[in-house]
Amino acid sequence: MTGKLVVGITGASGAIYAVRFLQHAAQHFDQLLVIASKHALSVARAELGLDVEPENLCSQRLLGEDYPNIIFLNPADYFTPPASGSFRHDGMVIIPCSMGTAGRIAHGVSDDLIARAADVCLKERRQLILVVRETPLNLVHLRTLTTLTEAGAVVLPACPSFYHHPRTVEEVVDTVIARVLQLLGVEQQIVGQWQVEE
Ligand SMILES: Cc1cc2nc3c(=O)[nH]c(=O)nc-3n(C[C@H](O)[C@H](O)[C@H](O)COP(=O)(O)O)c2cc1C
Repeated sequence: MTGKLVVGITGASGAIYAVRFLQHAAQHFDQLLVIASKHALSVARAELGLDVEPENLCSQRLLGEDYPNIIFLNPADYFTPPASGSFRHDGMVIIPCSMGTAGRIAHGVSDDLIARAADVCLKERRQLILVVRETPLNLVHLRTLTTLTEAGAVVLPACPSFYHHPRTVEEVVDTVIARVLQLLGVEQQIVGQWQVEE
């Protein structure tokens, strides 16, 4: 384990998933390399009222406090570590993941740093988790998700669970975050494991 995680944020609905994930993941990884598309920031402005633009993006504006271990990368800049297979890290999470980005990754279209970093994960056989969000799903989406699964990615839809009785939007969102962290091998304490009562 290198303690480094690459995180992509795209323009699917659910900017709060990105915010909660980064807040939790920052407690477990030495370094988070974050790439947000311009559409991700538009959605964050619309859904969460955040004052985030490509030019001023920082953890204070996106997450409400400074996180020294979070580094934001320019999605148009390929001269950055995640664009190369030689850079070692512990995997990549795209949260939320739009069907547009999912489709580009499925077809090897590395037209921004998010898609390129994901492409690198697939070719290097590193963990790639896509927290996709769209409903309903058309046949193109379903074929895209099948292709991504066949290529080695894990498709983890932004589908919250309710058997732990979440009471706030944050608690609902965290039921998804907990599953992502579990897949990454993190001992998360957000949501308990479903156990047989003794
Ligand atoms: C408010 C808002 C909500 C959106 N929600 C979704 C969504 O849930 N899923 C999706 O695939 N696209 C959604 N879109 C469309 C994407 O933002 C659009 O396809 C964009 O090109 C994605 O680009 P990106 O993947 O580079 O961020 C939404 C757009 C807006 C403005």
